[in-house]
Amino acid sequence: MKKTLLTLLIAAMLALFSACSDRAPEPEPSGGRLIVVGFSQVGAESDWRIGNTDSMLEAFSAENGYRLILDDAQNKQEKQITAIRNFINQGVDYIVLAPTTEEGWDTVLQEARAAGIPVILVDRRIDVADESLFTCWVGSDFRREGDTAAAWMEENLPDNLRIVHLQGNIGSSAQIGRSGGLDAALGRQPGWTVVFEAPGDFIQAKGQELVEELFENGTGFDVIYSENDNMAFGAVDALKAAGLRPGKDVAIISFDAGSKALRLVLDGTISLDVECNPMHGPRVRAIIEQLQRGEVPPKYTYVEETFFTSGTLTEETVAQRGY
Ligand code: AHR
Repeated sequence: MKKTLLTLLIAAMLALFSACSDRAPEPEPSGGRLIVVGFSQVGAESDWRIGNTDSMLEAFSAENGYRLILDDAQNKQEKQITAIRNFINQGVDYIVLAPTTEEGWDTVLQEARAAGIPVILVDRRIDVADESLFTCWVGSDFRREGDTAAAWMEENLPDNLRIVHLQGNIGSSAQIGRSGGLDAALGRQPGWTVVFEAPGDFIQAKGQELVEELFENGTGFDVIYSENDNMAFGAVDALKAAGLRPGKDVAIISFDAGSKALRLVLDGTISLDVECNPMHGPRVRAIIEQLQRGEVPPKYTYVEETFFTSGTLTEETVAQRGY
């Protein structure tokens, strides 16, 4: 009888253990428990994004006590919504979302809240009716970046300007803020005209194709306002192929300021590069550590950023760039 009871007890414990192990994170070798973070990343559209993913992978390593489940949404919001639902089903401890665009998150975030999983936003922002649907956000002030670029153009370029505007993917905070800065300056500068404006989705090949189209159409222009470095690289290739000297015949304004682009600032190819810092891994980890301690992190944290021209940039700064 005693033996039967013992067998039943062991069977019940094994069943309980296996039910838990469907959801529970892998134990650390030390017997501790890894914190499981589901990270829905926009994609791999740019050098910035690759630097950002690397930063997250490094910060959320097993050595640091985490298991990161990374999902690359290939620039599609519907894939991000599916990824969040999968994270909820897996019972992750935290969801980190780098949103593609600002709209359309209410329903899925309500589902995360119903499951009791905190959602931390990184990089771009979202527009939801109820801001308590996410715990907090950390990222760049994209509008300030746009205003910085526009103010530099007002001070350093001629009063009459024909502008080519290569936009990031429409509806993303990075596009909204950087386009907003340019639009505000257009209202102040009667001599500025946008001769061409189209989304290149932050992708190098698209930036190149758009500028090639301009040559096919015979559109004249003085400056390219490119909403990220990769589209600027594409534009530089297209200009060179057309026999023009980027930085001399056409001014190039860019955003991100990764090391490859900063080399082009140093040699005068890019006139101005406004920084957008992708090293968010340690910042998001610090937020999760605060939450683990029961603290309340600030709702919004803006990263400090600067801008670079060949006049202010040094070889040393470029060499120290981590991305
Ligand atoms: O949201 C940040 C932007 O997204 C970066 O400027 C761009 O390069 C990236 O793809």
